[in-house]
Amino acid sequence: MTTETVILGIETSCDETAAAVVVNGRKVLSNVIASQVETHRQFGGVVPEIAARKHLENISFIVEEALKQANLTLSDINGIAVSNGPGLVGALLVGLSYAKSLAFARRIPLLGVHHIYSHICANYLNEENFWEPPFICLVVSGGHTHLLDVQDYHNCNILGRTRDDAAGEAFDKVGRTLGLPYPGGPEIDKLSKIGDSLAISFPKTVFKDSLDFSFSGLKSAVLQYLHKNKGQDIDVSNVAASFQQSVIDVLVSNTLKACEQKGITKVALAGGVAANGGLRESMYLACANKGLSLNLPSIVYCTDNAAMVASGGYYHYIGGRVDSYNLNAYPNMDI
Ligand code: KG4
Ligand code: ZN
Repeated sequence: MTTETVILGIETSCDETAAAVVVNGRKVLSNVIASQVETHRQFGGVVPEIAARKHLENISFIVEEALKQANLTLSDINGIAVSNGPGLVGALLVGLSYAKSLAFARRIPLLGVHHIYSHICANYLNEENFWEPPFICLVVSGGHTHLLDVQDYHNCNILGRTRDDAAGEAFDKVGRTLGLPYPGGPEIDKLSKIGDSLAISFPKTVFKDSLDFSFSGLKSAVLQYLHKNKGQDIDVSNVAASFQQSVIDVLVSNTLKACEQKGITKVALAGGVAANGGLRESMYLACANKGLSLNLPSIVYCTDNAAMVASGGYYHYIGGRVDSYNLNAYPNMDI
């Protein structure tokens, strides 16, 4: 008989209050997410103070709901995993304090999970396709753009990272200049399906001896284009599609270069931007063309969720990486 380790995951690093129950890092019994996006939309971005207060309002209900949907009680849980950085400190502290109190009350392990690491673990949330390290992982979210060499369940090396904006941040900022609602990423994704990605030639920044990224030049180019053509009939879907294609081309090209440099034939995507239809398709075609295998997490596990946190917590747990009840939140935690 195989042992079952049941982990309750909690995620409050930004504007999603989420809780999930996952068995052995792979089998999702429940995954509950309360999004605050409607609240923050009127401000054009996440307001940290409001995010923290909303987490406080929602956390008990969301955790109870995750247990209920998993058909379990706290006494069935073997460990509590929680995002403790990077992220908005007030928001992180709500989830962390709640996780600590549950772990302490039940005398079960507390497992602090790095937010980027948890995004990588979204790739393990599929029982049918048992995806395992080593692989190259492109983590693209609202706050991070990292190209990682994932060596095993516990170690990874940064091969490249953004030097300015994160990919999702660029999507959201360009979305705002195009007059689209927050967050701009999914809106640009939708518009790109009807726009012509070859209509406008926007810059694609690649560095000669580095796998780093930079999106600020591209963002400025979109602004300049809009400024220059002000008063004329601008086709917003063409701007969106051309911008998105420039981002995708750089993400795909650096990922393939990373595989070549490291001699690795497995690629995975992670983070909110990994939900992008154009990126998923381009990466799929590029990998198929090069004979690389690709794992694409389900869309629901790309954007912030707690199932990926529970999976990360499970791998910490079996690796003996348990935290003390004094664990703190770190807004700028490096991977
Ligand atoms: O991983 P995530 O939920 O939160 C962070 O850790 O930042 O990522 C949120 C980011 C936002 O910038 C959002 O615009 C972007 O992911 N995003 C997308 C799509 N869905 C979410 N970007 C492009 N296309 C999408 N379909
Ligand atoms: Zn995230």
